[in-house]
Amino acid sequence: MVRETRLDPAQFILPLFVCPGEGVRREIGAMPGNYQMSIDETVKECAEVESLGIGGVILFGLPEAKDEMASGAYDDQGIVQRAVRAIKREVKRLIVMTDVCNCEYTSHGHCGFVKDGDVDNDITLQWLAKSAVSHARAGADIVAPSDMMDGRVAAIRQALDCNGFERTPICSYAAKFASVFYGPFREAADSAPQFGDRRTYQMDPANGREAMLEIELDLQEGADMIMVKPAMPYLDLIAKARQRWDVPLAAYQVSGEYSMIIAAVRNGWLDHDRAMMESLTSIARSGAGTILTYFAKPAARLLG
Ligand code: PBG
Repeated sequence: MVRETRLDPAQFILPLFVCPGEGVRREIGAMPGNYQMSIDETVKECAEVESLGIGGVILFGLPEAKDEMASGAYDDQGIVQRAVRAIKREVKRLIVMTDVCNCEYTSHGHCGFVKDGDVDNDITLQWLAKSAVSHARAGADIVAPSDMMDGRVAAIRQALDCNGFERTPICSYAAKFASVFYGPFREAADSAPQFGDRRTYQMDPANGREAMLEIELDLQEGADMIMVKPAMPYLDLIAKARQRWDVPLAAYQVSGEYSMIIAAVRNGWLDHDRAMMESLTSIARSGAGTILTYFAKPAARLLG
């Protein structure tokens, strides 16, 4: 009766990894219970996700081929674009978000165009704008840029508006840290950088004030919803952002946060359901209204 924080499956977003082929459902080694799925399997998965009352999915793509120009990212016939169209034909209520980034599509695994050994911010903005428009054209409900280039929200907003997608919201990965906890994801999305790391565009985990500045800038550029990522190591920043801005606030419980819990469960060291619910409750209590989580299905079942 006096509980302050309640979880609702409608606030969960499940990340999905779409791969080429048909009938493919390949479990991700470091993320048991999560799969790379071909489009047909993804559509079935989305129908189940919707029936569990989960709010939405966010799609990541594994393209057939990668190149230096990340061509697969902004191709209208790209893997994510085709998946969105297929899902939207069959599944009507589920929110379909798309991750807007290049690292799954570049041969070198960086989030943008590489010039002289580092990512060129402003050239990358053009790729991101094109990707966001092609996702919207395919029917995406929300586009979510995760690349951390400066100025990308403004570039995407302008491109969406110029192409008739004034009403497509942007959920910006506003405070995204250069985190070790993305490790398992890079296996799932086949997006590990082939050289260097992402510290020239993602944030220093030590910088909380800078995170507030990153959020402020994204809001000024037109972000409709903001995200803090990862979630549990950054609950202080979720709480600060909640107090400071009255906009929808999301947190991403990332792959490594999920894998840590599952690994401990598999060793018999933690109870699965309690660890899952306590972690999600802490994220909601800190102030996130929307939670991107690989636990979306089991948590929804438990809440059901
Ligand atoms: C793409 C992207 C990443 C994640 C979401 N979008 C990986 C990265 O930045 O290296 C990580 C999500 C997770 O770990 O679950 N840039």
